[in-house]
Amino acid sequence: MAAAQNEGAWNEDGRGPSIWDVFARRQGKIKGKGKPYMATDFYHRFKDDLLLVKALGFNTFRFSISWSRIMPDGSGKINQAGISFYHQLIDECLKQDITPFITLYHWDLPQALEQKGGWASHLMNRWFIKYVSVCATAFGDKVKNWIVLNEPFGFTSLGYMLGRHAPGKTGLDNYLKAIHHAALAQADGGRVLRSEVKNAYIGTSFSCSDVRPFTNKAEDIEAARKTDILLNRLFIEPLLGKGYPSENFKLIEKLELVNKSWKFTDRMRFDMDFIGVQNYFPVVVKHSPFIPYVNATEVKAATRKVPHTAMGWEISPGGFYNVLKKFWKYGAVKEIIVTESGAFFTDKMVNGQVADEARMHYHQQYLQALLQAKKDGIKIKGYMAWTLTDNFEWSEGYHPRFGLVHIDFKTQLRTVKQSGYWFRDFLADV
Ligand code: GAL
Repeated sequence: MAAAQNEGAWNEDGRGPSIWDVFARRQGKIKGKGKPYMATDFYHRFKDDLLLVKALGFNTFRFSISWSRIMPDGSGKINQAGISFYHQLIDECLKQDITPFITLYHWDLPQALEQKGGWASHLMNRWFIKYVSVCATAFGDKVKNWIVLNEPFGFTSLGYMLGRHAPGKTGLDNYLKAIHHAALAQADGGRVLRSEVKNAYIGTSFSCSDVRPFTNKAEDIEAARKTDILLNRLFIEPLLGKGYPSENFKLIEKLELVNKSWKFTDRMRFDMDFIGVQNYFPVVVKHSPFIPYVNATEVKAATRKVPHTAMGWEISPGGFYNVLKKFWKYGAVKEIIVTESGAFFTDKMVNGQVADEARMHYHQQYLQALLQAKKDGIKIKGYMAWTLTDNFEWSEGYHPRFGLVHIDFKTQLRTVKQSGYWFRDFLADV
């Protein structure tokens, strides 16, 4: 789970506002007028939610830290109440024999830093190193498992190019700078953790998709090639020391020029212990002259009449298998953890029960693909279902439900869905 999607308590105990608190106030930015201010009230209910984690048989709990809860201005003053909240959460995990897995950055930048330019500012890396160091010092004795960034492609493109996520910025210049600062941050973060946390197990998470051309026409194949560079290769390749994948792609050439990135090839490299793979759906593209640089447009699952979730995302365990294989093929990836996998389906509560067979089936199919990948020699250490409870789904508001546990957002009542019970039974047999 992610702080901005679950914690709520947005202005309690000294927490500063994040970009999502501010963005949500803007007219029309979040569907259905949903705000993240209370979310799933995890801040006050984490003990109950951890009991659910335990009851469903999971041995690991992934959560993110709200940067502005522990550093309200983003840098400088530390808020002890925020540090103490995460200590309570970690202690509770340990008490329940659940391994805590911390994500350092899951999209909720302190607003104070956004006002100084946020991810588009060259100061970002200094702020980030400080923040990681504060977290490492505070929690490193108790927590060994760390994810530096969650989906850098997601928060840079949606937040700094398309304006659909916080902070709502647009424009190529912002985008190219944000990409570069994120590419540096993932490696910088890794280095800070390595030096400050004894026996740390360090990774970072990427969104990835099996990209396919709609037809075999050369122009569609070229559209798929560029889309693959953006969706899958853009952040992992600099991390592996290969620099940006710019082959014959003007957008990435520009990225390199704007940031003089060749000077940073060494600094963008870090030897992660694992890579977090997050795959939801394959992407099928065809050529389009109207989309600058990439010249590609997606052919949606509904148009192609293939099975899809209520989000419109194609259900494709085969595509999931392909991305696992693709990342493993780099050779330099030591281990993979599937740090997110899940689906939104329109759940119905009938007589206090949610029979979400489609979600259950989704996880079964994706787990089968994972087992196949393991049999084929890919080192996969784990599968984290996205997600424990329904939550605040960013600009989509509260409508899309991904949880194994249903939440009534008026009363905060939790009800385990059939998919949750399925996990419990499945894990009891493992
Ligand atoms: C991921 C993101 C999560 C969650 C999920 C479902 O991209 O990391 O926070 O929202 O998608 O849409």
